[in-house]
Amino acid sequence: MEEILHMNGGVGETSYATNSLLQRTVISMVKPILEESILELYGTLLPECLNVADLGCSTGPNTLLVISEILESIEAASQKSNLKLPLFQVFLNDLPGNDFNTVFRSLPGFCKKLEEERGSKLEPCFIAGVPGSFYGRLFHNKSLHFVHSSYALMWLSEPPKALVIKPEALNKGNICIAKTSTPAVFKAYYEQFNRDFSMFLKSRGEEVVPGGRMMLTTMGNLRSDDPLTIWEFVGLKLNDMVLEGLIEEKSLDSFNLSYYAPTAEEVKKVIEDEGSFTLERLETFMVDWDTYISKADCSLDTEERAAILATDMRAVGEPILSSQFGESIMDDLFMRFKRDVFGYMEAHECKFINLVISLTRKT
Ligand SMILES: C[S@@+](CC[C@H](N)C(=O)[O-])C[C@H]1O[C@@H](n2cnc3c(N)ncnc32)[C@H](O)[C@@H]1O
Repeated sequence: MEEILHMNGGVGETSYATNSLLQRTVISMVKPILEESILELYGTLLPECLNVADLGCSTGPNTLLVISEILESIEAASQKSNLKLPLFQVFLNDLPGNDFNTVFRSLPGFCKKLEEERGSKLEPCFIAGVPGSFYGRLFHNKSLHFVHSSYALMWLSEPPKALVIKPEALNKGNICIAKTSTPAVFKAYYEQFNRDFSMFLKSRGEEVVPGGRMMLTTMGNLRSDDPLTIWEFVGLKLNDMVLEGLIEEKSLDSFNLSYYAPTAEEVKKVIEDEGSFTLERLETFMVDWDTYISKADCSLDTEERAAILATDMRAVGEPILSSQFGESIMDDLFMRFKRDVFGYMEAHECKFINLVISLTRKT
């Protein structure tokens, strides 16, 4: 899974860089919580060099947006507390398949813009890439002051093993938890999430200094037995293609996305059980599947919004779906997505549910 998962690279038409407005909107929506978290960090720690990590940074404008929002928040916090700005070191982490080249190529322009905007106020800012899975150690002991991650933690380290080792596929016809999934499927996904998120917290617990902060935004759910995920709709379109003989049934039955959107209660329980961090804030907020598109351009009609939603989903899902079903069906799959998504939205409550989690490393 960790070898296959990455967003569409480059800066072309189907790239993540060009099609990540949803994630960008969510980053902007949680900015006040980021500012609050950094201000509180300043109340306890005053490092000469502030070490920050963005986990699951991907590639494109969002990667740079996160860096500048963190920088701005640090500037604001320094001003409020009347303190000198620290040196700033940021580690950009993602899986090795991520298009780090595009990120690195954009850094000189980004640093130049920062210099122009902030002039002499800016202390040196060092930026480095760290390839590897956040479900394990990435940094040395007590080396980070602030960890950020947005829209990455819903990706599990692997699909639940219990779903694949049975003689008969357990989650037949689905690619993730869906309305027709059995309780055994819910349980297997929840247990995988529990293991992964505990390992994530344990690893960060080693790496974050006592009093250091972490802010995580992820896709979530309202109830564990009531999935509201856009991937279920992608699964329905794959099912249609099975019925038309375009995909083999066993290929669909044996495929499970490494994706789990937890409830706030599930997140809270893992944090408490693992014990390295104190939960400061945990909030749930929702946006309709297409709100972020109509907000950006209210003149778009339904068909145009459906086309954008389909391209955005493709930028995220194409590498992993094509590794199972082949690149040749991707145009057809996402054309079907575009054609049918608004009908589905009329019949179902289609919302992206987001969780924002603010934590402090226990002393
Ligand atoms: C939807 S993108 C979000 C990217 C960016 N944070 C944003 O908000 O636009 C999710 C990213 O998380 C990364 N990711 C998923 N699992 C990961 C893991 N175990 N370790 C590191 N990165 C991971 C993916 O490769 C992908 O680039």
